[in-house]
Amino acid sequence: MENYRKDFSIFQHTHYINSCSYGALSHQVEAAYGEYLKCRNTQGADWMYWCELHEEVRSRFAKLVNADADDVAVTTSASASLSSLISALDFTGTRNRVVTTDQAFPTEAQNWHAQSRRHADVVHARENDDGQLDLGHLAELVNEKTLIVAVPLVCYRHGALNDIAAITKIAHDAGALMLVDGYQGLGAVPFDVRALDVDFLIGGALKYLLSSAGIGFLYVREALIDNLYPAQTGWFAQADIHAMKIHGNEPAPNARRFEQGTPSVPALYAAKAGLDYMLNVGVQNTRDHVQGLNRALKDGVRALGGTLACALDDAAQGPMVAIRSTDDHALVAALQEDKIVTSCRDGNLRVSAHFYNDMSDIDAVLAALEKNKALLV
Ligand SMILES: Cc1ncc(COP(=O)(O)O)c(C=O)c1O
Repeated sequence: MENYRKDFSIFQHTHYINSCSYGALSHQVEAAYGEYLKCRNTQGADWMYWCELHEEVRSRFAKLVNADADDVAVTTSASASLSSLISALDFTGTRNRVVTTDQAFPTEAQNWHAQSRRHADVVHARENDDGQLDLGHLAELVNEKTLIVAVPLVCYRHGALNDIAAITKIAHDAGALMLVDGYQGLGAVPFDVRALDVDFLIGGALKYLLSSAGIGFLYVREALIDNLYPAQTGWFAQADIHAMKIHGNEPAPNARRFEQGTPSVPALYAAKAGLDYMLNVGVQNTRDHVQGLNRALKDGVRALGGTLACALDDAAQGPMVAIRSTDDHALVAALQEDKIVTSCRDGNLRVSAHFYNDMSDIDAVLAALEKNKALLV
């Protein structure tokens, strides 16, 4: 892997290995934010260019997951993507069941549970002791009343990577729709919406896509778009944004109908630069590189007598390695003292490498874990 670290100032003084929380800031993304400020100072407003930028970001998200740009909405967060889509679903017919999972990121599960007043019946597939979803249990929950199955690509608590093709088959065999929350994997795990045959994909740009808060996206299978009519809408979702009509609602014929108001303009600058950087490095290259680092990390943790939160083989794990701790917040703070940035959830230290990490980061993490062995389980 080429030395990309020179493009990320933080590596001059810190072992940043925390992309599951926020990707590191590159000079390119920093410069893109600067371009926004320059534009504000020189032109004040450049709506023509900002609308073009919106389309450029859309096409980059589409390229990342092998979708058509027309099937992608650019939103302000994964939550906004999901709630717009959900506002177009009908839970009053014979299919009102939502099969989510115990691996759901809170925003996903909460959005489904918020539909109980709209007659949604929300059930959760459980996970096995090894952290992998229990597909047998999931299959039992999916039936002729199931409207949609929703799973994360990678679990945010411990990094298990789900078998999306297998779960999509379970959903489709029962006539249900399939949604993936890709946020913890996109950029670090290859994802092809056509090959995997999913109906919906949500994600955002601030983690492995190196960009900014304020940008999310939603992919919708083309054949479904016409029959989905979001109740949560706005002027950027209209067939003609410039029509300014107030006596009706004419949703765009494509996935733009899932957008709402003024895009997050500064974040669009960052998203274009971050996505370009990531597409240039390549997702498969990143996956190969990170798997190598994670093998060394997992071996090192085992050698120290530590416990992996998710004891799976490499192919069933996303970019994050999670390590059990007696006090995960104290462990994050102890590593921070040695200038190592990680994060934690649910009693686990989360160490999430990306293409810019190297063995010096893994060695530093292992040395700090050895020093803080008392905080390992
Ligand atoms: C799997 C997953 N989904 C969704 C989110 C949050 O998305 P947003 O804040 O863009 O709504 C996160 C953030 O950590 C996440 O890990």
